[in-house]
Amino acid sequence: MVVRDETVFAHTPYDGSRQPFTIGLAPLDLKDWIEPDHHFEAHLAEKERLFENAVAPVFLAEADTVPAQGEVLGLLLEHLPRRFPDVYSVSGGAVTLLASGRRYEFADFGGRPLLLAAKLVQEDLVIMRKGEGGYRLVAAALAFPSSWSLAEKFGRSMPEIHEGVPGFNDGRMGPVVARIFDNLAVDRPVWRLNWSLYSDPELHHPMPKQIDLRVTDTSLPGLHVRVERQTLRRLPGSGNILFTIKIHHDPVAAFAAHPEGARLALGLRRQLLELTPEQLAYKALCHARARIAEDLLRLAESCGKSSKQELAAAK
Ligand code: HEM
Repeated sequence: MVVRDETVFAHTPYDGSRQPFTIGLAPLDLKDWIEPDHHFEAHLAEKERLFENAVAPVFLAEADTVPAQGEVLGLLLEHLPRRFPDVYSVSGGAVTLLASGRRYEFADFGGRPLLLAAKLVQEDLVIMRKGEGGYRLVAAALAFPSSWSLAEKFGRSMPEIHEGVPGFNDGRMGPVVARIFDNLAVDRPVWRLNWSLYSDPELHHPMPKQIDLRVTDTSLPGLHVRVERQTLRRLPGSGNILFTIKIHHDPVAAFAAHPEGARLALGLRRQLLELTPEQLAYKALCHARARIAEDLLRLAESCGKSSKQELAAAK
């Protein structure tokens, strides 16, 4: 089937192209809104499993969000078969995923259209609605959280959701993001990237990081760099904002087989070393930073493609 040529490392914000803990929004071309990749089947199968069996909630929605959820599903049903005709087919009141043959009847999801929407794409889907205290999380189908709990953040405002994120409420980021949300135009969607490090290949991390220390004592073989590709667009009908999160969870050891592996390893190392103590603590990397930085340097040296200057500058 489709879809993108890139295999691992489709997005590498840690190479210096973005800065961590910044807003970093860029205009989104809607043809790239949804991003199926070679993990499509595996991720969708994992979503099915989680929507069926997960212990932590993976779908929550306020009762009056059904029309907005339906709007999201409608946009996807319009977009997906047109953009990816060999992946999706819509006919006879149902949508079919052509590779697996999995078929969903719309009538089965009347009360939860966002759930069906989320079963069609690798992305997690979140609806934000303007209320008295700013935008609030009013509905979400969230299979692959990056160490946060939907139950905990459900119904919360942006400042509440980002409590504990360095620079969000104690800096300029929160107010600027609030203004961006207020002014987000239907025809001006945006996207951003962030990264974190994990010591396992799991996609589903529903425990807040106070409990789930993401990287304590890990070595490169288990280490994964997790990139979230996030998009934001205003829904034209409801005026709500749809937030999508696509997870790229790549093994760091695979830098070794990547043509740009040394540059990526050194870029990640540099951003890791530049994190402030607050940012480091937020990312649960206090204990592991020095060792990971050292391992990344060794990895870059073994890749063989980095110049002597690059390595000397890194030391
Ligand atoms: C322009 C929009 C946004 C910006 C600039 C932003 C910024 C950030 C930043 C810098 C972090 C720290 C992540 C890291 O680098 O490790 C973060 C975490 C997070 N963001 Fe956002 N965010 C935005 C939109 C949203 C939206 C719409 C949601 C709705 C669900 C959301 C939910 C979260 C959650 C749950 C976390 C983890 C919080 C925690 O650790 O408790 N963000 N965000």
